[in-house]
Amino acid sequence: MTPIRSLLFVPGNNPRMLGKALGLAPDAIVPDMEDGAPMGEKEQARAAVSSFLPTLIETGRRVIPRVNSTSSGLIGRDLEAAIAPGVFGVTVGKTASAGEVEAISEMIFKIELARGMERGSVALIPWIESALAVVNAYEICSASSRVIAVAFGAEDLANDMGIERTESGEEVAYARSAVCTAARAADVQALDTPYVRFRDENGLRRDCRAAKGLGFKGKFAIHPSQIEVINHAFSPSDAEVEAARRIVTAFDAAESVGKGAISLDGSMVDAPVVKRARGILDLASRMSGL
Ligand code: COA
Ligand code: MG
Repeated sequence: MTPIRSLLFVPGNNPRMLGKALGLAPDAIVPDMEDGAPMGEKEQARAAVSSFLPTLIETGRRVIPRVNSTSSGLIGRDLEAAIAPGVFGVTVGKTASAGEVEAISEMIFKIELARGMERGSVALIPWIESALAVVNAYEICSASSRVIAVAFGAEDLANDMGIERTESGEEVAYARSAVCTAARAADVQALDTPYVRFRDENGLRRDCRAAKGLGFKGKFAIHPSQIEVINHAFSPSDAEVEAARRIVTAFDAAESVGKGAISLDGSMVDAPVVKRARGILDLASRMSGL
């Protein structure tokens, strides 16, 4: 699957912003019925999201509404509003166990069946944003074939841990890494927490670099101005592609004369290095089709 680099949150109770999203170009649009919609407006959010779904889907972007957690008592009605033919998937806040993922998958299955949609066609992206969820990350990632990605939520995790958020993010470094590793082990994409200082472009760039360095394949955006920075950060750079090309060319030439490891610019190039380089070229060619 082509990685989802940028996912734009749009408050589900805000028709003006939902309308605005139609003209934007994130890889995915995430109308939010969870924490982006106040408790008193959940019903309005469901109605607005549901009525905007067809036009959002028509943009050709992946549409992935976010619904409230299984413990909220809201998820059933949220899912009814969030699922329609053409929806790529749903994302669920505050998921903490494999059992919850199985239960959500079952609820989605019933809606698919009732609406004549292909079984299993709706993807699921659980949010891992509590200590328990971090500990259960691999089980959450592998609980259902619907799970194609997981989202790491740093703000709720900080609340759960009773700790302050800092610009460097060192306080969530373990959890952030653990989510990435679990996602990789389960062969699903890891998506990073939003960067909340939305006017600070350099800060966002730094945060994207850190996330990419850990293995995240994309990141949530909360403001239109973040989309381009995120897309750029999670696409292979020209320098990365050029370096990968040199590695592959040099290695192929060496291999044809029977060498397994070579030296290039003072570094050793062997099988894992070449494999990574081929991965970058493959990703770049898939991205160029976007
Ligand atoms: N989706 C779609 N449009 C958005 C948007 C979003 N997430 N965020 C801002 N816009 C629109 C605004 O409506 C505005 O359009 P307008 O000038 O036509 O009215 C334009 O982009 C510029 O917005 P700006 O004035 O810079 O920001 P703001 O002060 O209106 O909004 C936030 C700032 C943070 C409140 C807003 O970006 C937002 O609500 N983001 C999503 C928050 C969210 O979903 N949180 C929960 C998940 S963590
Ligand atoms: Mg959250």
